[in-house]
Amino acid sequence: MKIREHDIIILGSGLAGLRAALQIAIEGKGKIDLAIVSKVQLMRSHSVSAEGGTAGAIRQDEGDSLELHAWDLIKGSDFLADQDAVWKYVNRMPYEILLLDRLGMPWSRRPDGKIATRYFGGQTFPRTAYAGDKTGFFAMQTLYDSLQKYTDRFTRYDEFFTTHIIVGEDKTFRAIVGIFLPEGETYVLRAKALIIATGSAIRMYGFTTMAFSGTGDGVAMAYRIGIPIKDMEFMQFHPTGIVPSGILLTEGARGEGGYLINNKGERFMKRYAEKFMELAPRDITSRAIMSEIEEGRGFKGPNNLDYVLLDIRHLGKEKILTRLPLVRELSMRLIGVDPIKEPIPIRPVAHYMMGGIDTDLEGRTIYEGIWAIGECACVSVHGANRLGSNATAECLAWGYFAGNDASKFVMEKELKELPTEKVENAQKEIEEILNKNGNENQYEIRKELWETMDKYVGVYRDKIGLEKALDKIRELKRRWKDIKILDKDLIYNTELMNAIELKNMLDLAEVVVEGALLREESRGAHYRRDFPKRDDENWLKHTIATYDQKEDKPKLDYKPVKILYWKPVERKY
Ligand code: FUM
Repeated sequence: MKIREHDIIILGSGLAGLRAALQIAIEGKGKIDLAIVSKVQLMRSHSVSAEGGTAGAIRQDEGDSLELHAWDLIKGSDFLADQDAVWKYVNRMPYEILLLDRLGMPWSRRPDGKIATRYFGGQTFPRTAYAGDKTGFFAMQTLYDSLQKYTDRFTRYDEFFTTHIIVGEDKTFRAIVGIFLPEGETYVLRAKALIIATGSAIRMYGFTTMAFSGTGDGVAMAYRIGIPIKDMEFMQFHPTGIVPSGILLTEGARGEGGYLINNKGERFMKRYAEKFMELAPRDITSRAIMSEIEEGRGFKGPNNLDYVLLDIRHLGKEKILTRLPLVRELSMRLIGVDPIKEPIPIRPVAHYMMGGIDTDLEGRTIYEGIWAIGECACVSVHGANRLGSNATAECLAWGYFAGNDASKFVMEKELKELPTEKVENAQKEIEEILNKNGNENQYEIRKELWETMDKYVGVYRDKIGLEKALDKIRELKRRWKDIKILDKDLIYNTELMNAIELKNMLDLAEVVVEGALLREESRGAHYRRDFPKRDDENWLKHTIATYDQKEDKPKLDYKPVKILYWKPVERKY
């Protein structure tokens, strides 16, 4: 086992991780020794797949405002967002968009040279800045380029699969343990502070926009050491996943004026969101599409993936080629449909996790020295339903906040002792998994998890389906203990890595389903057919799950939503 020491570890190298890294590199002025740890090669983080844009009120001279941005988010969140977090966030975002601009981000431009913005769902003003439909890729590239100025201030651990977070008895951060895949060696990385930025767990679904890496490792590790996780039942279904792969077709297509069409040729959104039409928030639009399909107004698709159509033909060739080139490329390459000439088959697809590691306004968790930011965290800006283009934005804002906060923290602290027994236990646990020689195939278990989540924990849910899902997940957790690992080497042992990822997803899926089962109301992305109304009297509260180690299952509790100025009202679009 090799031991290395740093001041701060950033776990995850997506937009949140890189933005925090840049902040620390600048703020630390060469005095902070930073490690960026990623289970993939840095630029393969899923943030590169973000398409449509980044929200921020940069057009306040033309009628937008911080208040409008905040109100759109709070209403979009079905009033579950914490309003102090929203206010902090909307205030920061214009700076973040302009900062990226200064760093060389190729934002799309208007004819007058200003950064172009477009509508995304649920917005009362077109406040989404974009770089064509490859915003995430360009933002990552910009941050990566900017970091090259500071290569003497950080060490990269690419393809480092972290298995454990080690904390002291006093609930302070001490180290992470993981396998450096190219060497096949277990490492202990000690530091004064850890920023978890590991992204989503939405890969627990089969039909998803998420890369295979989105297995919730950071959330699961935090959960298992006793850090509370919040609002996990709120999973977002993006309305337009291309059929049959589920790959994302950006909401920017509707932001530019695209239509959703059923098998009768109708723009059916008029029945669900008369005013906002195709630009209603995602929860409403996804439910509308599923209702059309269930009521027989969809098209028959492969593998039971019935669909409706996204039609952008009327936008014209030039707009499609300049503003939505990736939509066209994906559509042509994946299914041979040229959207300049034909509409594209789409349906709702698991896309984003509103919940995550519970944090305060700076991104701090309950453990001293551990922060969580980006999609793995829940501060909570998005509540029960995120508005599109606020995920890349949240990564930037909390990369900045937590990067600053952690920098100050480590300047004043010493490295704490390493709890060697815990490290040895972590090592033993890795070996036990590596030596598993049971009767179960982990890939069969993963497939059954996907089928369960897709079938019972989707856009529409009910008690019977959720109970079935919970039973199944518990069965899969038992079966996971009896898997067989064939590859006994540690060098690039993806079989071992996949097994631990699967355990992470199973533990988190249990939290998702239990939270969904107990929440007897419909709010945002959590729609219960058996409880179709929002119930503020009983359920205007966050779900908090903590790990019960003895029982190996979550214990659920609740905490109030922070309401500052904006009182809950009926949500109409
Ligand atoms: O549709 C999209 O481009 C996705 C953006 C987002 O999830 O924010």
